[in-house]
Amino acid sequence: MSNLHTNSVEKNIILQANNLGKTYRDGLINTEVLQGVDLVLHARERKAIVGASGSGKSTLLHLLAGLDKPTTGEVKLAGQDFSNLSETKRGILRNQNMGFVYQFHYLLAELTALENVMLPLRVARQSASTAEKQAIGLLKQVGLGHRLHHKPAELSGGERQRVAIARALITRPGCILADEPTGNLDSKSAEQVFDLMLSLNDEFDTALLVVTHDLDLAAQIGETITLVDGRILQPAAV
Ligand SMILES: Nc1ncnc2c1ncn2[C@@H]1O[C@H](COP(=O)(O)OP(=O)(O)OP(=O)(O)O)[C@@H](O)[C@H]1O
Ligand SMILES: [Mg+2]
Repeated sequence: MSNLHTNSVEKNIILQANNLGKTYRDGLINTEVLQGVDLVLHARERKAIVGASGSGKSTLLHLLAGLDKPTTGEVKLAGQDFSNLSETKRGILRNQNMGFVYQFHYLLAELTALENVMLPLRVARQSASTAEKQAIGLLKQVGLGHRLHHKPAELSGGERQRVAIARALITRPGCILADEPTGNLDSKSAEQVFDLMLSLNDEFDTALLVVTHDLDLAAQIGETITLVDGRILQPAAV
């Protein structure tokens, strides 16, 4: 019975980091950016990461996405340790389980909104017609049914972020990582994009890990993790 319980709790974890550390080495100069970071994100859970500029937030997200290798520790996505996988397998694992939204949207400039959103499904070898149908549905959900064939340069900042959100969700990943997803927008568009992210996150049962400078926003997301000089600030004991 207790075994069963442990298993179901374990299964519920989508993303986990243990004792994560990152030191950049450049000749004789060592820059220690992260140290001893432990983090658990359960299915459908939302957490925010806050911290001063340079505290290691983006570095942490890169490690959690398996886009960079940690100096110490491990990252598991959907139960699989990135360090045990080849580059190709890491890519497949990421494509199946994780979506990203960045401050500067990283949409492909030469593709339309529709093509950008279809891309992760095409990479996952879905047929063009299935990918197109799903991408149109999702773009309509983010309020961009009338902008399917616009390229990123022909969209507003808020619209681009909504395309990025649709692209992140299209594979129905277990979790979304977002790095300052609204940092580049005016306060009204930021609020709209943020509300959209939270409501779609609910609808798609996706866990969410968001880096933000905005403490009010962080409080709305859920549990807040504070990074100070590359370490998680532990709440003071009462
Ligand atoms: N390739 C690198 N080589 C050496 N140091 C690096 C490298 N990349 C990042 N750093 C350093 O790591 C620290 C953390 O950077 P990071 O981008 O994670 O900060 P951040 O918390 O995301 O900051 P911001 O809020 O400004 O985006 C910084 O001091 C940065 O200079
Ligand atoms: Mg950053």
